[in-house]
Amino acid sequence: MALRAAGCPLLLLLLPPLAAASVALSGCFGTKSRYEEVNPHLVQDPLSLGPAAAGARPPAACAPLQLRALLRHGTRYPTAKQIRRLGELHGRLLRRAAAAAASSSACPLAAALAAWHMWYEESLDGRLAPRGQRDMEHLARRLAARFPALFAARHRLALASSSKHRCLQSGAAFRRGLGPALPLAGGETEIEINDALMRFFDHCQKFVAFVEENDTAMQQVDAFKQGPEMRRVLEKVAGVLCLPVDELNADLIQVAFLTCSYELAIRNVTSPWCSLFNEEDAKVLEYLNDLKQYWKRGYGYEINSRSSCNLFQDIFQQLDKAVEESKSSKPISSPVIVQIGHAETLQPLLALMGFFKDDEPLRANNYVRQMHRKFRSGRIVPYAANLVFVLYHCDQVKTSKEEYQVQMLLNEKLMPFHHSNETISIYADLKDYYKDILQNCHFKEECELPKSNSTATDEL
Ligand SMILES: *[C@@H]1O[C@H](CO)[C@@H](O)[C@H](O)[C@H]1NC(C)=O
Ligand SMILES: *[C@@H]1O[C@H](CO)[C@@H](O)[C@H](O)[C@H]1NC(C)=O
Ligand SMILES: *[C@@H]1O[C@H](CO)[C@@H](O)[C@H](O)[C@H]1NC(C)=O
Ligand SMILES: *[C@@H]1O[C@H](CO)[C@@H](O)[C@H](O)[C@H]1NC(C)=O
Repeated sequence: MALRAAGCPLLLLLLPPLAAASVALSGCFGTKSRYEEVNPHLVQDPLSLGPAAAGARPPAACAPLQLRALLRHGTRYPTAKQIRRLGELHGRLLRRAAAAAASSSACPLAAALAAWHMWYEESLDGRLAPRGQRDMEHLARRLAARFPALFAARHRLALASSSKHRCLQSGAAFRRGLGPALPLAGGETEIEINDALMRFFDHCQKFVAFVEENDTAMQQVDAFKQGPEMRRVLEKVAGVLCLPVDELNADLIQVAFLTCSYELAIRNVTSPWCSLFNEEDAKVLEYLNDLKQYWKRGYGYEINSRSSCNLFQDIFQQLDKAVEESKSSKPISSPVIVQIGHAETLQPLLALMGFFKDDEPLRANNYVRQMHRKFRSGRIVPYAANLVFVLYHCDQVKTSKEEYQVQMLLNEKLMPFHHSNETISIYADLKDYYKDILQNCHFKEECELPKSNSTATDEL
């Protein structure tokens, strides 16, 4: 698959040497990756459709009828939890620096990090960064340029979002990117909040009990944090910072690495935090991030992906509706549907559809064997990640094929379908391939907790 790549550095050759340190790590930032990691041409020109655009043109003799875009919000600030952790680590470095001033131990990087200005405040808690607004405005403009007929002013946009502030802000930025000429469906000015579809994971009791609130569900992640690869990184970083190893742990190491990614994504700077890590360290920390995604949002547990089946079915219901409208020569009621959610919205859906599945599960003890894994969250769900379904009506005479066809784009690149390895499919074939999910995946049943037989006594 085109998105598959082995090493971390991607932009190494595109940026001036000064930035090279963080750039060598920036392919390993997982879900904290800039969108430019998957589309490096955007560094030069954020409105360019890129080298793959020519191949991604609508097929000849086909006209797009409907576009359904599922977006992850743009670049965001760290969560309050991460900001607290960073404060804790920074505090330790400040105390060390104060103590070291009395003695004479030289530890230049620890001193530089102690002097670093801790500007993140807990109130920033996961909010959309200014950079994230630009991500969305530019994405909107590129999509409109690629599908001008669909985005033309006379058509209406159906815009929905998760209730999270960063998603609503992303939706507003996306709409701004399209310019003033496009009214929302029904003349609405508000973005519709739809957590049932965008945050289905919160509404799935079985997921919440079995994965989210289950202390042992992340055992592979916890084991990797204690394992030899993380231990090596931890000892190295402790040495560089002149801190006792037992003053650090995997979570503090991870927040130092995340800070390198945040400073690059949010402020476009190479922060001194990046100097703590080389590429080998970065790969270990990338694996830690991917392990968590895998067990919490990906193939690790079946309920992770099954909890997205309402969203999956909704996509096909809207496509069906457009096909019916087209067949009866009616105008398409929803030509453009844009929905803004989270990495946690996209990843389960992609797993439900079978994408990026490795032969072996990601585990604490197979880091080396997973070096060339498909499941790389930085390639799949960076900030502003987008999964787009496009339905086409095709001229039968010229194509000698079925009238209705579909394409899928992930992060603006055509995705080969799972059933054919081709980048276009007859709509009926796609539905046939996924008929089991379409017919037998029912959110209510999938997400129901197994009936406990102790309730009778509990209620007494
Ligand atoms: C928690 O996860 C473990 C490991 O997957 C599983 O065996 C156990 O049944 C889960 N517990 C609950 C309460 O779902
Ligand atoms: C980010 O920094 C690089 C290198 O300093 C610079 O070339 C580039 O224009 C900056 N990008 C943005 C979006 O500010
Ligand atoms: C899918 O197609 C690509 C490009 O045509 C090819 O390189 C790859 O080997 C194919 N994969 C499978 C599983 O057939
Ligand atoms: C629940 O427990 C009772 C008594 O222990 C038993 O008779 C009954 O069959 C159980 N029901 C289910 C659904 O397991």
